[in-house]
Amino acid sequence: MPAVCRKARLEDVEPLYQMIQGYAEKGIMLPRSRAVLEKQIGEFVVAEAEGKVIGCGSLCQLGNDLVEIRSLGISEGYKGQGIGSMLVDSLLEEAKRREIPKVMALTYEVSFFMKNGFAVVEKEIFPEKVWTDCIHCKKQHACDEIAVLKVLN
Ligand SMILES: CC(C)(COP(=O)(O)OP(=O)(O)OC[C@H]1O[C@@H](n2cnc3c(N)ncnc32)[C@H](O)[C@@H]1OP(=O)(O)O)[C@@H](O)C(=O)NCCC(=O)NCCS
Repeated sequence: MPAVCRKARLEDVEPLYQMIQGYAEKGIMLPRSRAVLEKQIGEFVVAEAEGKVIGCGSLCQLGNDLVEIRSLGISEGYKGQGIGSMLVDSLLEEAKRREIPKVMALTYEVSFFMKNGFAVVEKEIFPEKVWTDCIHCKKQHACDEIAVLKVLN
Protein backbone atom coordinates (compact mmCIF):
# COMPACT_ATOMS: atom_id res chain seq x y z
CA MET A 1 0.00 0.00 0.00
CA PRO A 2 1.51 3.40 -0.91
CA ALA A 3 2.32 5.87 1.85
CA VAL A 4 0.10 8.89 2.31
CA CYS A 5 1.02 12.20 3.85
CA ARG A 6 -1.41 13.97 6.17
CA LYS A 7 -1.54 16.49 8.99
CA ALA A 8 -0.75 14.93 12.36
CA ARG A 9 -3.53 14.32 14.89
CA LEU A 10 -3.42 13.93 18.67
CA GLU A 11 -3.51 10.13 18.40
CA ASP A 12 -0.19 10.34 16.51
CA VAL A 13 1.62 11.73 19.58
CA GLU A 14 2.81 8.32 20.82
CA PRO A 15 4.22 7.03 17.48
CA LEU A 16 5.75 10.48 16.86
CA TYR A 17 7.34 10.41 20.31
CA GLN A 18 8.77 6.93 19.72
CA MET A 19 10.14 7.80 16.29
CA ILE A 20 11.76 11.09 17.37
CA GLN A 21 13.13 9.49 20.55
CA GLY A 22 14.78 6.74 18.47
CA TYR A 23 16.59 9.35 16.34
CA ALA A 24 17.38 11.51 19.39
CA GLU A 25 19.16 8.55 20.99
CA LYS A 26 21.35 8.34 17.89
CA GLY A 27 22.12 12.09 18.08
CA ILE A 28 20.33 12.84 14.79
CA MET A 29 17.38 14.79 16.22
CA LEU A 30 16.54 16.78 19.31
CA PRO A 31 14.15 14.95 21.63
CA ARG A 32 10.55 16.17 21.99
CA SER A 33 8.48 15.32 25.04
CA ARG A 34 4.95 13.97 24.65
CA ALA A 35 3.67 17.22 26.20
CA VAL A 36 5.52 19.34 23.64
CA LEU A 37 4.32 17.12 20.79
CA GLU A 38 0.75 17.46 22.02
CA LYS A 39 1.07 21.24 22.12
CA GLN A 40 2.74 21.47 18.71
CA ILE A 41 0.79 18.74 16.93
CA GLY A 42 -0.63 21.30 14.49
CA GLU A 43 2.88 21.90 13.16
CA PHE A 44 3.47 18.23 12.28
CA VAL A 45 2.80 16.16 9.20
CA VAL A 46 3.05 12.38 9.17
CA ALA A 47 3.44 9.72 6.51
CA GLU A 48 1.24 6.69 7.03
CA ALA A 49 1.55 3.25 5.44
CA GLU A 50 -0.18 0.01 6.33
CA GLY A 51 -2.03 1.86 9.10
CA LYS A 52 1.20 2.91 10.82
CA VAL A 53 3.01 6.24 11.15
CA ILE A 54 6.26 5.67 9.23
CA GLY A 55 7.47 9.23 8.83
CA CYS A 56 7.16 12.71 10.25
CA GLY A 57 8.26 16.29 9.89
CA SER A 58 7.37 19.64 11.38
CA LEU A 59 7.62 23.37 10.84
CA CYS A 60 8.86 25.83 13.41
CA GLN A 61 8.29 29.50 12.70
CA LEU A 62 11.40 31.55 13.45
CA GLY A 63 10.35 34.94 12.15
CA ASN A 64 7.98 36.68 9.76
CA ASP A 65 9.81 35.34 6.74
CA LEU A 66 11.60 32.24 8.06
CA VAL A 67 10.49 28.77 9.05
CA GLU A 68 12.57 25.72 9.99
CA ILE A 69 11.93 22.10 9.08
CA ARG A 70 12.42 20.01 12.21
CA SER A 71 11.97 16.41 13.29
CA LEU A 72 12.04 15.03 9.73
CA GLY A 73 12.47 11.26 9.70
CA ILE A 74 11.39 8.10 7.94
CA SER A 75 11.29 4.65 9.60
CA GLU A 76 13.84 2.02 8.58
CA GLY A 77 12.41 -0.10 5.78
CA TYR A 78 10.62 2.88 4.23
CA LYS A 79 13.60 5.07 3.34
CA GLY A 80 14.60 5.74 -0.26
CA GLN A 81 11.04 5.53 -1.60
CA GLY A 82 10.36 9.24 -1.98
CA ILE A 83 8.43 9.50 1.29
CA GLY A 84 10.85 12.00 2.87
CA SER A 85 10.53 14.19 -0.23
CA MET A 86 6.75 13.91 -0.04
CA LEU A 87 6.84 15.19 3.56
CA VAL A 88 9.20 18.03 2.63
CA ASP A 89 6.86 18.99 -0.26
CA SER A 90 3.94 19.11 2.09
CA LEU A 91 5.87 21.26 4.61
CA LEU A 92 6.93 23.59 1.76
CA GLU A 93 3.29 23.85 0.68
CA GLU A 94 2.30 24.76 4.23
CA ALA A 95 5.03 27.45 4.38
CA LYS A 96 3.73 28.82 1.08
CA ARG A 97 0.17 28.80 2.42
CA ARG A 98 1.38 30.84 5.42
CA GLU A 99 3.23 33.17 3.02
CA ILE A 100 6.60 32.47 4.62
CA PRO A 101 9.19 32.64 1.84
CA LYS A 102 12.28 31.12 3.47
CA VAL A 103 12.49 27.52 4.65
CA MET A 104 15.66 26.31 6.37
CA ALA A 105 16.90 23.15 8.08
CA LEU A 106 19.92 22.06 10.07
CA THR A 107 20.90 18.63 8.91
CA TYR A 108 23.42 15.89 8.18
CA GLU A 109 21.39 14.86 5.11
CA VAL A 110 22.68 17.53 2.75
CA SER A 111 22.26 15.55 -0.50
CA PHE A 112 18.67 14.75 0.34
CA PHE A 113 17.86 18.44 0.89
CA MET A 114 19.77 19.47 -2.25
CA LYS A 115 17.69 16.99 -4.28
CA ASN A 116 14.68 18.80 -2.85
CA GLY A 117 15.86 22.21 -4.06
CA PHE A 118 17.68 23.50 -0.97
CA ALA A 119 21.11 25.14 -1.06
CA VAL A 120 23.84 24.98 1.57
CA VAL A 121 24.27 28.31 3.36
CA GLU A 122 26.40 29.75 6.17
CA LYS A 123 24.73 29.25 9.55
CA GLU A 124 25.61 32.83 10.49
CA ILE A 125 23.03 34.28 8.07
CA PHE A 126 20.21 33.18 10.37
CA PRO A 127 18.94 35.24 13.30
CA GLU A 128 19.65 34.31 16.89
CA LYS A 129 16.17 32.85 17.27
CA VAL A 130 17.29 29.88 15.16
CA TRP A 131 19.62 28.84 17.94
CA THR A 132 17.21 28.96 20.88
CA ASP A 133 16.56 25.22 20.53
CA CYS A 134 20.28 24.47 20.65
CA ILE A 135 20.46 24.87 24.43
CA HIS A 136 18.70 21.48 24.56
CA CYS A 137 21.35 19.87 22.35
CA LYS A 138 24.34 17.97 23.75
CA LYS A 139 26.46 19.28 20.88
CA GLN A 140 25.57 22.94 21.36
CA HIS A 141 29.15 24.19 21.33
CA ALA A 142 30.32 21.80 18.64
CA CYS A 143 27.44 21.87 16.16
CA ASP A 144 28.41 19.95 13.06
CA GLU A 145 25.05 20.16 11.30
CA ILE A 146 24.86 21.91 7.94
CA ALA A 147 22.39 24.75 7.30
CA VAL A 148 20.29 24.48 4.15
CA LEU A 149 17.82 27.00 2.76
CA LYS A 150 15.11 27.12 0.14
CA VAL A 151 13.55 30.41 -0.89
CA LEU A 152 10.01 29.90 -2.17
CA ASN A 153 8.72 31.84 -5.13
C1 LIG B 1 16.76 12.06 5.29
C2 LIG B 1 15.49 11.23 5.16
C3 LIG B 1 14.32 12.01 5.81
C4 LIG B 1 15.21 11.04 3.65
O1 LIG B 1 13.96 10.40 3.48
P1 LIG B 1 13.75 9.32 2.31
O2 LIG B 1 12.30 9.01 2.25
O3 LIG B 1 14.69 8.21 2.52
O4 LIG B 1 14.22 10.16 1.03
P2 LIG B 1 13.62 10.10 -0.45
O5 LIG B 1 13.37 8.69 -0.81
O6 LIG B 1 12.51 11.07 -0.59
O7 LIG B 1 14.90 10.64 -1.23
C5 LIG B 1 14.87 11.69 -2.16
C6 LIG B 1 16.19 11.74 -2.86
O8 LIG B 1 17.24 11.99 -1.94
C7 LIG B 1 18.20 10.93 -1.98
N1 LIG B 1 18.63 10.64 -0.62
C8 LIG B 1 17.85 10.28 0.42
N2 LIG B 1 18.62 10.09 1.51
C9 LIG B 1 19.89 10.32 1.12
C10 LIG B 1 21.13 10.26 1.77
N3 LIG B 1 21.23 9.93 3.04
N4 LIG B 1 22.24 10.57 1.06
C11 LIG B 1 22.16 10.88 -0.25
N5 LIG B 1 21.02 10.95 -0.93
C12 LIG B 1 19.88 10.68 -0.25
C13 LIG B 1 17.48 9.75 -2.58
O9 LIG B 1 18.38 8.89 -3.25
C14 LIG B 1 16.54 10.43 -3.54
O10 LIG B 1 17.20 10.73 -4.75
P3 LIG B 1 16.51 10.42 -6.18
O11 LIG B 1 15.33 11.33 -6.20
O12 LIG B 1 17.58 10.78 -7.15
O13 LIG B 1 16.16 8.99 -6.13
C15 LIG B 1 15.60 9.82 5.79
O14 LIG B 1 16.70 9.16 5.23
C16 LIG B 1 15.76 9.82 7.31
O15 LIG B 1 14.81 9.62 8.03
N6 LIG B 1 17.01 10.01 7.83
C17 LIG B 1 17.30 9.99 9.24
C18 LIG B 1 16.75 11.20 9.95
C19 LIG B 1 17.36 12.48 9.46
O16 LIG B 1 18.57 12.62 9.34
N7 LIG B 1 16.53 13.48 9.18
C20 LIG B 1 16.93 14.79 8.71
C21 LIG B 1 16.86 15.72 9.85
S1 LIG B 1 16.74 17.40 9.29
